[in-house]
Amino acid sequence: MTTSTYERLSRADPWYYTPERVKEIEPLLDRVRELKRKRDAYLLAHNYQRAEIFEVADDTGDSLALALKAAEVKDAKVIVFCGVHFMAETAKIVNPTRMVLLPDLSAGCSLADSAPADAVKDRIEELKQSFPDLAVVTYVNTTAEVKALTDVCCTSGNAVSVVRSLPNRNILFIPDRNLARHVANNVPDKNIIAWDGACYIHEQITPEAVQQIRAAVPGMKVLAHPECRDDVLALADATLSTSGMIDYARQSEAHEFLAVTECGLSDLLSIEVPNKRFYRACKICPFMKSITLENVIESLEKLQFEITIPEPVRGRAERALRRMFEVTGRDSMPVPPQVPVE
Ligand code: 13P
Ligand code: SF4
Repeated sequence: MTTSTYERLSRADPWYYTPERVKEIEPLLDRVRELKRKRDAYLLAHNYQRAEIFEVADDTGDSLALALKAAEVKDAKVIVFCGVHFMAETAKIVNPTRMVLLPDLSAGCSLADSAPADAVKDRIEELKQSFPDLAVVTYVNTTAEVKALTDVCCTSGNAVSVVRSLPNRNILFIPDRNLARHVANNVPDKNIIAWDGACYIHEQITPEAVQQIRAAVPGMKVLAHPECRDDVLALADATLSTSGMIDYARQSEAHEFLAVTECGLSDLLSIEVPNKRFYRACKICPFMKSITLENVIESLEKLQFEITIPEPVRGRAERALRRMFEVTGRDSMPVPPQVPVE
């Protein structure tokens, strides 16, 4: 057993990642590394993944960072996406000539499911009758089909700046009502019409849970994800994307934090920022946790499950994603390689 693997994993959870368990995990990590070389694969992992997945990831990040990383991949033939379906689709949208694999097709997203494309299309047509200047802003937690129907995408890290940058006053914001409310509070001159969707994981975190921990740990900073309910966000010192929380914890002078989001983020914070202390008001996303070392191995062995998107849909979805980078002006999305993989 290498000490560094044990040291990192046990920081995430010393009761789960015991020396015995890490000894069992290590051969699986070696097998993933071997298959990555054999398949010429690049492994991207979302910040909510299991801690052992971070050990074999070439990059980890929030949805925004992973979209940018996926677009940059040109030396590898295959992208293995350890995250959920809409994230793997985003990787395919921005880098269509790579083979993109999702190790478990049941890794969906309750928020993306709350906005079916047909219903979104009908709602856009209906609202355009009353609001001819309507702009449709889609959070990336949506299917490629829904992205293709919309003007511009956003992520939890840039939703406020995307909406602020638009000349339109009337905005249909899809699909998260909590993120829509957070945007409306920060951009009060716009009329934000929210789609009535939510992430059932974040919705389960209550203000009482946050208050209880805050009362026990005075001085602690509360960092909440914008998918949380508004009565939870009202208690937060900062509302941030998952990578935003990591940056905040690194840079802050505070030493104790409460991460109010999916539990994997607290694991990652404990690994990445070892000199600080992280408390949890979190819930587990079963979709994110359906990715395991075993199914990553199977995915690389059998080259499964490949993400495909019909070209007209992909092209329109790419336009909405590219516009997100243009309007925020912070990062521009790299042009993906044009050479198909043989
Ligand atoms: P981030 O983009 O902040 O990582 O969020 C993705 C997500 O699915 C949150 O539930
Ligand atoms: Fe989707 Fe919620 Fe899971 Fe994020 S935490 S992937 S929004 S179900």
